[in-house]
Amino acid sequence: MSGAAASFKFDEIGLWSELKLEIVEKYGAAYTNAFRNATNLKKYYIDAFSGAGVHVSKRTGQTIDGSPARALKVVPPFDGFYFIDMDADKTAHLQKLCAGRTDVHVHTGDANNFLTKELLPAIQFRKFNRALCLLDPYGLHLDWEVIAQAGQSQAVDMFLNFPVMDMNRNAIWRNPDRVPQEGLERMTRFWGDDSWKEVAYAESAQKNLFFAPDMIKRGNEAIVAAFQERLKKVARFTFVPEPLAMRNSTNAVVYYLFFASQKPVAKKIIEDIFKRYQG
Ligand SMILES: C[S@@+](CC[C@H](N)C(=O)[O-])C[C@H]1O[C@@H](n2cnc3c(N)ncnc32)[C@H](O)[C@@H]1O
Repeated sequence: MSGAAASFKFDEIGLWSELKLEIVEKYGAAYTNAFRNATNLKKYYIDAFSGAGVHVSKRTGQTIDGSPARALKVVPPFDGFYFIDMDADKTAHLQKLCAGRTDVHVHTGDANNFLTKELLPAIQFRKFNRALCLLDPYGLHLDWEVIAQAGQSQAVDMFLNFPVMDMNRNAIWRNPDRVPQEGLERMTRFWGDDSWKEVAYAESAQKNLFFAPDMIKRGNEAIVAAFQERLKKVARFTFVPEPLAMRNSTNAVVYYLFFASQKPVAKKIIEDIFKRYQG
Protein backbone atom coordinates (compact mmCIF):
# COMPACT_ATOMS: atom_id res chain seq x y z
CA MET A 1 0.00 0.00 0.00
CA SER A 2 1.39 3.47 -0.85
CA GLY A 3 2.07 6.05 1.88
CA ALA A 4 -0.81 8.19 0.69
CA ALA A 5 -3.30 5.31 0.70
CA ALA A 6 -2.09 4.09 4.12
CA SER A 7 -2.83 7.51 5.65
CA PHE A 8 -6.13 7.96 3.81
CA LYS A 9 -8.96 9.02 6.06
CA PHE A 10 -12.61 9.40 5.18
CA ASP A 11 -13.94 12.98 5.19
CA GLU A 12 -15.85 14.03 8.29
CA ILE A 13 -19.20 15.52 7.45
CA GLY A 14 -21.60 17.77 9.37
CA LEU A 15 -25.32 17.37 9.80
CA TRP A 16 -26.03 19.61 6.79
CA SER A 17 -24.17 17.12 4.57
CA GLU A 18 -26.09 14.22 6.07
CA LEU A 19 -29.34 15.99 5.21
CA LYS A 20 -28.16 16.61 1.66
CA LEU A 21 -27.42 12.90 1.31
CA GLU A 22 -30.93 12.01 2.44
CA ILE A 23 -32.45 14.52 0.02
CA VAL A 24 -30.48 13.27 -2.99
CA GLU A 25 -31.26 9.66 -2.11
CA LYS A 26 -34.99 10.37 -1.80
CA TYR A 27 -35.07 12.24 -5.08
CA GLY A 28 -33.00 9.49 -6.77
CA ALA A 29 -35.63 6.88 -5.90
CA ALA A 30 -38.46 9.10 -7.15
CA TYR A 31 -36.47 9.82 -10.32
CA THR A 32 -35.85 6.20 -11.36
CA ASN A 33 -39.39 5.29 -10.37
CA ALA A 34 -40.73 7.96 -12.73
CA PHE A 35 -38.87 6.20 -15.58
CA ARG A 36 -39.96 2.68 -14.72
CA ASN A 37 -42.17 2.32 -17.82
CA ALA A 38 -39.92 4.32 -20.17
CA THR A 39 -37.95 1.34 -21.50
CA ASN A 40 -36.69 3.32 -24.51
CA LEU A 41 -34.74 5.72 -22.26
CA LYS A 42 -31.44 5.16 -20.46
CA LYS A 43 -31.12 6.91 -17.09
CA TYR A 44 -27.73 7.65 -15.61
CA TYR A 45 -26.47 8.92 -12.27
CA ILE A 46 -23.54 11.34 -12.44
CA ASP A 47 -21.70 12.28 -9.24
CA ALA A 48 -19.14 14.85 -10.32
CA PHE A 49 -17.42 15.57 -6.97
CA SER A 50 -18.19 12.15 -5.64
CA GLY A 51 -15.91 11.70 -2.65
CA ALA A 52 -14.91 8.20 -1.51
CA GLY A 53 -18.44 6.82 -1.14
CA VAL A 54 -18.06 6.70 2.64
CA HIS A 55 -17.74 9.49 5.22
CA VAL A 56 -17.56 9.78 8.98
CA SER A 57 -20.45 11.58 10.64
CA LYS A 58 -19.22 14.38 12.95
CA ARG A 59 -22.44 13.92 14.91
CA THR A 60 -22.09 10.21 15.72
CA GLY A 61 -18.46 9.34 14.85
CA GLN A 62 -19.86 6.45 12.76
CA THR A 63 -19.19 5.80 9.10
CA ILE A 64 -22.00 6.84 6.80
CA ASP A 65 -22.70 6.12 3.12
CA GLY A 66 -21.78 8.97 0.75
CA SER A 67 -23.76 9.97 -2.32
CA PRO A 68 -22.28 7.33 -4.72
CA ALA A 69 -22.97 4.46 -2.32
CA ARG A 70 -26.55 5.66 -1.88
CA ALA A 71 -27.11 6.03 -5.61
CA LEU A 72 -25.97 2.44 -6.14
CA LYS A 73 -28.72 1.25 -3.79
CA VAL A 74 -31.57 3.20 -5.40
CA VAL A 75 -34.47 1.03 -6.55
CA PRO A 76 -35.44 0.83 -9.40
CA PRO A 77 -31.77 1.08 -10.35
CA PHE A 78 -30.14 3.56 -12.70
CA ASP A 79 -28.81 2.09 -15.97
CA GLY A 80 -25.30 3.39 -15.33
CA PHE A 81 -23.21 5.42 -12.91
CA TYR A 82 -20.37 7.92 -13.35
CA PHE A 83 -18.33 8.85 -10.28
CA ILE A 84 -15.61 11.48 -10.62
CA ASP A 85 -13.18 12.78 -8.02
CA MET A 86 -9.73 14.28 -8.39
CA ASP A 87 -8.43 12.58 -5.25
CA ALA A 88 -6.96 9.23 -6.29
CA ASP A 89 -7.31 7.72 -2.80
CA LYS A 90 -11.02 8.45 -2.87
CA THR A 91 -11.55 6.96 -6.31
CA ALA A 92 -9.47 3.91 -5.30
CA HIS A 93 -11.89 3.37 -2.43
CA LEU A 94 -14.84 3.84 -4.77
CA GLN A 95 -13.38 1.25 -7.15
CA LYS A 96 -13.31 -1.24 -4.29
CA LEU A 97 -16.89 -0.41 -3.38
CA CYS A 98 -18.02 -1.06 -6.96
CA ALA A 99 -15.81 -4.09 -7.66
CA GLY A 100 -17.41 -6.45 -10.16
CA ARG A 101 -20.00 -3.93 -11.36
CA THR A 102 -19.96 -3.31 -15.08
CA ASP A 103 -22.49 -0.47 -14.88
CA VAL A 104 -20.13 1.84 -12.93
CA HIS A 105 -17.47 4.11 -14.38
CA VAL A 106 -15.06 5.72 -11.88
CA HIS A 107 -12.88 8.55 -13.16
CA THR A 108 -9.95 10.16 -11.34
CA GLY A 109 -9.41 13.74 -12.42
CA ASP A 110 -10.98 17.16 -12.77
CA ALA A 111 -14.75 16.85 -12.99
CA ASN A 112 -15.12 20.04 -15.02
CA ASN A 113 -12.93 18.70 -17.73
CA PHE A 114 -14.42 15.21 -17.81
CA LEU A 115 -18.01 16.45 -17.81
CA THR A 116 -17.68 19.14 -20.46
CA LYS A 117 -15.39 17.24 -22.82
CA GLU A 118 -16.49 13.61 -22.46
CA LEU A 119 -19.65 12.91 -20.54
CA LEU A 120 -22.22 15.69 -20.97
CA PRO A 121 -21.93 15.91 -24.77
CA ALA A 122 -23.30 12.35 -24.86
CA ILE A 123 -26.30 13.09 -22.61
CA GLN A 124 -28.89 14.62 -24.89
CA PHE A 125 -32.68 14.65 -24.95
CA ARG A 126 -32.73 13.54 -28.60
CA LYS A 127 -30.36 10.64 -27.86
CA PHE A 128 -32.92 9.10 -25.48
CA ASN A 129 -30.72 9.27 -22.44
CA ARG A 130 -31.30 11.18 -19.21
CA ALA A 131 -29.20 11.87 -16.15
CA LEU A 132 -29.49 12.90 -12.55
CA CYS A 133 -26.36 14.89 -11.85
CA LEU A 134 -25.00 15.88 -8.43
CA LEU A 135 -22.53 18.79 -8.51
CA ASP A 136 -21.25 18.91 -4.97
CA PRO A 137 -17.86 20.61 -4.62
CA TYR A 138 -16.61 21.82 -1.23
CA GLY A 139 -16.28 25.35 -2.57
CA LEU A 140 -15.87 27.38 -5.74
CA HIS A 141 -14.41 24.54 -7.82
CA LEU A 142 -17.09 24.21 -10.44
CA ASP A 143 -16.98 25.64 -13.93
CA TRP A 144 -20.14 27.34 -15.24
CA GLU A 145 -19.72 25.48 -18.53
CA VAL A 146 -20.75 22.27 -16.75
CA ILE A 147 -23.98 23.87 -15.56
CA ALA A 148 -24.66 25.42 -18.97
CA GLN A 149 -24.17 22.13 -20.81
CA ALA A 150 -26.37 20.31 -18.30
CA GLY A 151 -29.19 22.81 -18.80
CA GLN A 152 -28.87 23.02 -22.54
CA SER A 153 -28.90 19.22 -22.94
CA GLN A 154 -32.58 19.35 -21.84
CA ALA A 155 -31.90 15.89 -20.40
CA VAL A 156 -30.37 16.53 -16.97
CA ASP A 157 -31.87 16.98 -13.52
CA MET A 158 -29.25 18.67 -11.39
CA PHE A 159 -28.47 19.17 -7.72
CA LEU A 160 -25.97 21.95 -7.19
CA ASN A 161 -24.07 23.01 -4.11
CA PHE A 162 -24.00 26.84 -4.25
CA PRO A 163 -21.12 27.54 -1.86
CA VAL A 164 -21.99 30.91 -0.28
CA MET A 165 -19.58 30.44 2.61
CA ASP A 166 -16.63 30.04 0.25
CA MET A 167 -17.91 32.97 -1.83
CA ASN A 168 -18.07 35.22 1.23
CA ARG A 169 -14.64 34.11 2.43
CA ASN A 170 -12.81 34.39 -0.87
CA ALA A 171 -14.64 36.51 -3.41
CA ILE A 172 -17.38 38.81 -2.09
CA TRP A 173 -15.96 41.13 0.57
CA ARG A 174 -17.14 44.36 2.18
CA ASN A 175 -14.25 46.06 0.46
CA PRO A 176 -14.22 44.65 -3.10
CA ASP A 177 -10.87 46.31 -3.84
CA ARG A 178 -9.10 44.03 -1.37
CA VAL A 179 -10.32 40.67 -2.72
CA PRO A 180 -7.40 38.52 -3.93
CA GLN A 181 -7.29 37.91 -7.67
CA GLU A 182 -7.56 34.15 -7.22
CA GLY A 183 -10.88 34.50 -5.37
CA LEU A 184 -12.27 36.79 -8.09
CA GLU A 185 -11.26 34.33 -10.78
CA ARG A 186 -12.79 31.33 -9.04
CA MET A 187 -16.05 33.24 -8.55
CA THR A 188 -16.16 34.32 -12.20
CA ARG A 189 -15.47 30.78 -13.34
CA PHE A 190 -18.33 29.47 -11.21
CA TRP A 191 -20.75 32.23 -12.31
CA GLY A 192 -19.77 32.10 -15.97
CA ASP A 193 -18.87 35.79 -16.31
CA ASP A 194 -18.24 38.73 -14.01
CA SER A 195 -21.86 39.93 -13.89
CA TRP A 196 -21.93 38.59 -10.30
CA LYS A 197 -20.19 41.84 -9.28
CA GLU A 198 -23.27 43.86 -10.25
CA VAL A 199 -25.41 41.61 -8.06
CA ALA A 200 -23.05 41.31 -5.10
CA TYR A 201 -22.63 45.05 -4.53
CA ALA A 202 -24.97 48.03 -4.49
CA GLU A 203 -24.16 51.73 -4.53
CA SER A 204 -24.57 53.45 -1.18
CA ALA A 205 -26.28 56.85 -0.89
CA GLN A 206 -23.07 58.14 0.73
CA LYS A 207 -20.18 59.46 -1.34
CA ASN A 208 -16.54 58.63 -0.62
CA LEU A 209 -13.56 61.02 -0.63
CA PHE A 210 -13.52 61.01 -4.42
CA PHE A 211 -17.24 61.95 -4.58
CA ALA A 212 -18.05 58.49 -5.94
CA PRO A 213 -20.72 56.38 -4.23
CA ASP A 214 -19.45 53.81 -1.71
CA MET A 215 -20.17 50.19 -2.62
CA ILE A 216 -22.13 48.07 -0.13
CA LYS A 217 -21.95 44.28 -0.08
CA ARG A 218 -25.42 42.78 -0.49
CA GLY A 219 -26.70 39.78 1.46
CA ASN A 220 -26.69 36.13 0.36
CA GLU A 221 -30.33 36.37 -0.70
CA ALA A 222 -29.54 38.78 -3.55
CA ILE A 223 -26.82 36.62 -5.06
CA VAL A 224 -28.85 33.44 -4.62
CA ALA A 225 -31.90 34.98 -6.35
CA ALA A 226 -29.73 36.20 -9.24
CA PHE A 227 -28.18 32.76 -9.67
CA GLN A 228 -31.64 31.15 -9.68
CA GLU A 229 -32.58 33.46 -12.57
CA ARG A 230 -29.31 32.65 -14.35
CA LEU A 231 -30.00 28.93 -14.18
CA LYS A 232 -33.26 29.58 -16.02
CA LYS A 233 -32.32 32.33 -18.47
CA VAL A 234 -28.73 31.41 -19.33
CA ALA A 235 -28.43 27.68 -18.60
CA ARG A 236 -32.01 27.11 -19.84
CA PHE A 237 -33.36 24.99 -17.03
CA THR A 238 -37.15 25.37 -17.11
CA PHE A 239 -37.75 24.74 -13.41
CA VAL A 240 -35.50 26.04 -10.66
CA PRO A 241 -37.37 25.97 -7.34
CA GLU A 242 -36.28 27.99 -4.31
CA PRO A 243 -33.02 26.45 -3.11
CA LEU A 244 -32.66 25.00 0.38
CA ALA A 245 -30.36 26.81 2.84
CA MET A 246 -28.03 24.24 4.42
CA ARG A 247 -26.95 25.49 7.88
CA ASN A 248 -24.21 24.48 10.28
CA SER A 249 -24.54 24.02 14.06
CA THR A 250 -24.30 27.80 14.62
CA ASN A 251 -27.14 28.32 12.14
CA ALA A 252 -24.86 29.95 9.54
CA VAL A 253 -25.66 29.03 5.93
CA VAL A 254 -22.83 26.89 4.54
CA TYR A 255 -24.35 26.55 1.09
CA TYR A 256 -27.64 26.58 -0.78
CA LEU A 257 -28.76 23.34 -2.34
CA PHE A 258 -30.15 24.17 -5.77
CA PHE A 259 -32.20 21.81 -7.88
CA ALA A 260 -32.91 22.37 -11.57
CA SER A 261 -34.85 20.37 -14.12
CA GLN A 262 -36.90 20.56 -17.30
CA LYS A 263 -39.89 18.72 -15.87
CA PRO A 264 -42.80 20.06 -13.80
CA VAL A 265 -43.15 16.73 -12.00
CA ALA A 266 -39.51 16.95 -10.86
CA LYS A 267 -40.15 20.42 -9.48
CA LYS A 268 -43.14 19.18 -7.53
CA ILE A 269 -41.26 16.21 -6.08
CA ILE A 270 -38.29 18.29 -4.96
CA GLU A 271 -40.46 21.04 -3.50
CA ASP A 272 -42.20 18.40 -1.37
CA ILE A 273 -38.83 17.01 -0.25
CA PHE A 274 -37.30 20.46 0.44
CA LYS A 275 -40.37 21.42 2.49
CA ARG A 276 -39.70 18.52 4.84
CA TYR A 277 -36.12 19.71 5.37
CA GLN A 278 -36.75 23.42 5.77
CA GLY A 279 -35.55 24.86 9.08
C1 LIG B 1 -18.29 17.68 -0.77
S1 LIG B 1 -17.20 16.40 -1.28
C2 LIG B 1 -18.30 15.31 -2.10
C3 LIG B 1 -19.23 14.58 -1.22
C4 LIG B 1 -20.15 13.63 -1.92
N1 LIG B 1 -20.92 14.28 -2.98
C5 LIG B 1 -21.12 13.04 -0.92
O1 LIG B 1 -22.13 13.71 -0.63
O2 LIG B 1 -20.88 11.91 -0.46
C6 LIG B 1 -16.33 17.16 -2.58
C7 LIG B 1 -15.34 16.27 -3.32
O3 LIG B 1 -14.90 16.98 -4.48
C8 LIG B 1 -13.57 16.57 -4.77
N2 LIG B 1 -13.03 17.57 -5.70
C9 LIG B 1 -12.61 18.83 -5.46
N3 LIG B 1 -12.29 19.47 -6.61
C10 LIG B 1 -12.55 18.59 -7.61
C11 LIG B 1 -12.48 18.66 -9.04
N4 LIG B 1 -12.05 19.76 -9.67
N5 LIG B 1 -12.84 17.58 -9.75
C12 LIG B 1 -13.26 16.45 -9.16
N6 LIG B 1 -13.36 16.34 -7.80
C13 LIG B 1 -13.02 17.38 -7.04
C14 LIG B 1 -12.91 16.45 -3.42
O4 LIG B 1 -11.82 15.54 -3.46
C15 LIG B 1 -14.08 15.92 -2.55
O5 LIG B 1 -14.01 14.52 -2.44
